[in-house]
Amino acid sequence: MNSKIVRETFLEYYEKNYHKRVKSSSLVPQDDSTLLFTNAGMVQFKNVFLGNEKREYKRACSSQKCVRAGGKHNDLENVGYTARHHTFFEMLGNFSFGDYFKKEAIHYAWDLVTDVYGLPKEKLWITIFKEDDEAFDIWHKQEGIDTSRIIRMGEKDNFWSMGDTGPCGPCSEIHIDQGKDVGCKRPECSIECDCDRFLEIWNLVFMQFNRSTDGKLTPLPKPSIDTGMGLERVSAILESVYSNFDTDLFVPIINDICNYFSVEYKHNESADVSLRVIADHLRAMDFLISDGVLPDKEGRGYVLRKIIRRAMRYGAKLGTKDPFLYKLVDSVNRSLGDIYPEIIQNEIFVKNTIKQEEEQFLTTLEEGLALFDKLVDKADNILDGQKAFKLYDTYGFPIDLTLDIAKEQNIFVDLEGFNKHLEMQRQRSKSTLSIGVDLKDTLGLALKDLKQTEFVGYDKFEEQGSLLSILDMDLKNVNVVKEGDSAYFVFDKTPFYANSGGQVADSGYIHSDNLKAFVEDVFKHLNKYFVHKVKILEGEFKKDNKYTLSINTARRKDTARHHSAVHLLDSALIKKLGNNIKQAGSLVEPDRLRFDFTHNSKLTDEEIRDIEIMVNVWIQEAYPVKTNIMKIKDAIESGAIAIFTEKYDELVRVVEIEGVSKELCGGTHVKNTGEIGFFKIISEEALSKGVRRIEAKVGMAAYDYVIKLEKTLNLVLKELSTNIDELPKRIVDLKQPAKETLKLFRFEFNQSKLKKIGECNFYIDFLDGDIETLKKYGDTIKNTVKDAVVVLYGKFEEKVYIVCMISGNCKNYFKANDIVKKICNKFGAKGGGKELYAQAGVNSDKFNANAIFDESLYI
Ligand code: ALA
Repeated sequence: MNSKIVRETFLEYYEKNYHKRVKSSSLVPQDDSTLLFTNAGMVQFKNVFLGNEKREYKRACSSQKCVRAGGKHNDLENVGYTARHHTFFEMLGNFSFGDYFKKEAIHYAWDLVTDVYGLPKEKLWITIFKEDDEAFDIWHKQEGIDTSRIIRMGEKDNFWSMGDTGPCGPCSEIHIDQGKDVGCKRPECSIECDCDRFLEIWNLVFMQFNRSTDGKLTPLPKPSIDTGMGLERVSAILESVYSNFDTDLFVPIINDICNYFSVEYKHNESADVSLRVIADHLRAMDFLISDGVLPDKEGRGYVLRKIIRRAMRYGAKLGTKDPFLYKLVDSVNRSLGDIYPEIIQNEIFVKNTIKQEEEQFLTTLEEGLALFDKLVDKADNILDGQKAFKLYDTYGFPIDLTLDIAKEQNIFVDLEGFNKHLEMQRQRSKSTLSIGVDLKDTLGLALKDLKQTEFVGYDKFEEQGSLLSILDMDLKNVNVVKEGDSAYFVFDKTPFYANSGGQVADSGYIHSDNLKAFVEDVFKHLNKYFVHKVKILEGEFKKDNKYTLSINTARRKDTARHHSAVHLLDSALIKKLGNNIKQAGSLVEPDRLRFDFTHNSKLTDEEIRDIEIMVNVWIQEAYPVKTNIMKIKDAIESGAIAIFTEKYDELVRVVEIEGVSKELCGGTHVKNTGEIGFFKIISEEALSKGVRRIEAKVGMAAYDYVIKLEKTLNLVLKELSTNIDELPKRIVDLKQPAKETLKLFRFEFNQSKLKKIGECNFYIDFLDGDIETLKKYGDTIKNTVKDAVVVLYGKFEEKVYIVCMISGNCKNYFKANDIVKKICNKFGAKGGGKELYAQAGVNSDKFNANAIFDESLYI
């Protein structure tokens, strides 16, 4: 049974049992600051388990893209050395959201494994959480499994948590005995042994709790089911091969790598490790970049960078000095592109990104590898912390890479020392703080049980609302707030748009007779509540009373103009630069928009003009802007652009500008593109590698911008007494003399000007330049010539400057201040200084250039 059949059989089985087949979510978890990557099938359902989100279905199944590298579940360093560890893998899972529980979950799993996949019952073993008598009984009584094959295990093995916080619960695992010839081969080997003989294939988690930041477990609203079966390992079992790397998921990729390097798999263990690392890491980088992660100095991007660099190191071990990973992306795409079309859609971008990263690291990799040997203390086989830090800081070696190399050579790395240096560096560049997870948790509790806020602001700018909850600034529920207080208000409905999808919140007032509060900010919590941050200006506001909520309509309209323009800009970029353009972020404000997108090169002036023209033409054509609520499936099938496809909420809002643009979007828009007025790009720049940022303005903001430019230009024209047609030439003229001055300042050390007098090398010269220039060049000479007396004359404007410098042993024979004094006497100048350095200035009309080469001036 090949992996495609294994995957499809799983999903079909659960579909037949009334589970909704749900697409894999992105590897980047949405709205979840607690997780680095999606590391299990349940991640996209976290809020459903917690009861914060409802879906149309109560049963689901999926084949989920997962990455376990960095964060709680981190397998990076084992990859390549074992038969099973991966950075990227697929997890098959079925889920029940308060629907069925242990009985059904166990039955489905057993039925699928034994009846459908046909695994021999006599080879299967079960583990359960030690206190879970219920699971024990179900396995034994319901499924007829001998009690000797149901093993109770502790929390470490049989209690599953997604991370430090979040849903969790006891679990039960199905293991397969691969036979006594596999693993440690000890006669007493059992399921409790750590070796590979008893292989876990499926984990059934009985989700019952939520773990909060303080570690406390609170019961979930309803007991639920989350299961996970690694596709790679179950495929290995069903394909009757020992290692995941021998399944059809990896063999073709490893073959392609072998072809590239002209090596053979399974001929040499060290080369095999490299081949497995590269095969695994290629899949991870392809999928991560396709999901929008880019190599970076921190966070997700850093993990991706580590993966790429680790793969490069193993490539170097196989003998390459060239970028090669990007050439092998096709191999992964052939293997999984039909299941995950995003890797095909992003192919060019992925290759470019990997290639750039490879090019950037190649030289330092080579130098760093050479240096590694020198840095190691050979006597003790130790790499000290500071040196490991040097490899990290100067050569970009992630510490894992250093540890990898060290491991192969049996070298001990002083990690403590490394961390100390890293910490010192962090202290030096104390960077951003992340927004507190705690604040979100507290808010969630404070608003618990409240009705979801209805947003009426698509059609209305003013609305009556009941004040359902008042929170003070410590997020405590209060009943009254008065003049001068700040607070958070939640209403049953609101016309205020909350900060989301890059669009800033509305501002405005909440009021009634003699009462007024200013709305400073509005944000959404749990995608459910619109939380208004307010400052009370007049009167007392009471919980459960009704108030009028009025937004600032001018601001809203300006914001809407910019938001619709973002959609036009997105379409224009795709039309002009191709389908690889992917939105990487945006900001929509009343007076500007910012749009970040994936693209590997700077836009030319011509491209920018073409894009501006395209957008302005669409504005002039005055296309209607329509919004529709539809099923996400239909929306995407009809060609709508979906930026965040992590969550497959059933219904989505689609904003369509007919014939021009169609995007999933919750923002506020104009009714007709004509309202946008005028579009102007004001800057285009690199945001990070492979990501560009455009800033633009529309409507009156764009007009104001043009006026500002015009004013500045008029000022310049006036200053330069010229007109706009003559300006370019005028500027060229103006730059001319400056250029000449620069040329004169360029000083060249000329050996022939050196003259030896006694022990000392005299260097006397005359050039164009002020005192600073003289000093600079004097220093250069001093650094070039040992034991020097340097006397430089510089003409600048109406003056001649003199500097004298003494270096090395010459200080025993000459003093700079004496020399300068003599010169001053001769030219009637003023000056002074110290023994090693002195300077003077003389009016040029008193100065005689021929006299300065007279030796008697200096001796
Ligand atoms: N979420 C569970 C796991 O990852 C099923 O093992």
